[in-house]
Amino acid sequence: MEAHLYEWGNLLLRWLHVIAGVAWIGASFYFNWLENNLEREGDKPRGVGGTLWAIHGGGFYYLQKYQVAPERLPERLHWFKWEAYYTWITGFLLLVVVYYLNASTTLIDPSVAPLSPLQASLIGIGVLIASWFVYDGLCRSPLAQRPALLAAVGFGLLVLLAFGLTHVFSGRGAYIHVGAAIGTIMAANVFRVIIPSQRALVRALEAGEAPDPQQGKNGFQRSRHNNYLTLPVLFIMISNHFPGTFGSHWNWAILAMLMAIGMLVRHYFNVRHLPGPNGWMLPTAGLATLVLIILTAPSTVYQRHQGDTRLAPVDFPEIRQIVENRCMACHAAEPTFAGFSNAPQGIRLDDDEAIRRYRAQIVRTAADTRSMPPGNLTDMTDAERLLLRQWLRAGTTDE
Ligand code: HEC
Repeated sequence: MEAHLYEWGNLLLRWLHVIAGVAWIGASFYFNWLENNLEREGDKPRGVGGTLWAIHGGGFYYLQKYQVAPERLPERLHWFKWEAYYTWITGFLLLVVVYYLNASTTLIDPSVAPLSPLQASLIGIGVLIASWFVYDGLCRSPLAQRPALLAAVGFGLLVLLAFGLTHVFSGRGAYIHVGAAIGTIMAANVFRVIIPSQRALVRALEAGEAPDPQQGKNGFQRSRHNNYLTLPVLFIMISNHFPGTFGSHWNWAILAMLMAIGMLVRHYFNVRHLPGPNGWMLPTAGLATLVLIILTAPSTVYQRHQGDTRLAPVDFPEIRQIVENRCMACHAAEPTFAGFSNAPQGIRLDDDEAIRRYRAQIVRTAADTRSMPPGNLTDMTDAERLLLRQWLRAGTTDE
């Protein structure tokens, strides 16, 4: 029953999280796009810095952006903040349901660090809080005068965080905490800086005073950072489907590369309309992706760990025995492992035909990446993992 409720909690929170996240990032992409496409030349009403025509959903839209602010505040002014807050709230609750209440299957890997669920959860929450204070401190330091250097330092710290966390949590748990730390920074940027600086702007207008340009600058800096963080954070949120990334020995470096690629792609879309040599960015991102695909190919992993390519076929009953002992407690029609009400991801390994059919996935998760069994809860041995690999490469004696 409890497992059933977790499952539904996970489903509903995840659904809401995606909906709120789409609204937040969608609005952020839209306003960035507007900013990059405003017509700044030609006749415009007083105080207007740019205008733009668009057609969408069967209607024409005409927008104008003020250089600083209109002379009088409109009666209805729309703010964009709840998308960010709801994304963070649902994301945090999801983190609690999936990672903190089920820490031993998702967050902890005893071969990395033998933490208790409480210790692991407290470290996780501590990381989120600390990340914000470190980041916010950097943005308020003299480093803020040098945006490119600030970005480089920030990126270095993110990689350091990824490296550190992969030495504390399971690969999957480490990845999600890097993502949650970025998400926390982004939502806190909205809550602590962007919205307050907009409030100050509005207050100044209402009082008939000149708005303080520094407020606008602070909001702009944080908004820009959020913009660059969107693509990395989106990858991390889907990363748990890709054990080849978080399950790898080099998981932190793979994450660093994917984050850098995401930021570069985002940068291209931010500057492509500006003069200057921008054409190299997308090809470089593509090339870096290609290098990553080649570096992570399992065949190179095999060759490194296992020089001999002439392997003998294995006896299928041996494979069945391994799956029965190490996987079937969860991956069965009616799992016996506490906390599971259904076979995870619908993957049932409870008959011979299924075991053969899932061969590639079994070897990928249990031998290449070791993301299964989670946290090695069922004590799978290295010899068993090697045998699975041999099965993939040489087949079985009865085939
Ligand atoms: C303690 C329970 C448990 C055990 C034992 C377990 N798994 Fe899993 N498995 C899971 C969960 C939970 C997921 C879903 C992970 C997710 O949602 O990202 C999963 C997902 C999978 C997937 C699909 C995910 C993917 O990335 O392709 C495969 C394949 C898999 N397991 C194989 C195995 C194999 C092989 C074994 C035995 C060596 C095993 N599992 C043992 C809990 C378990």
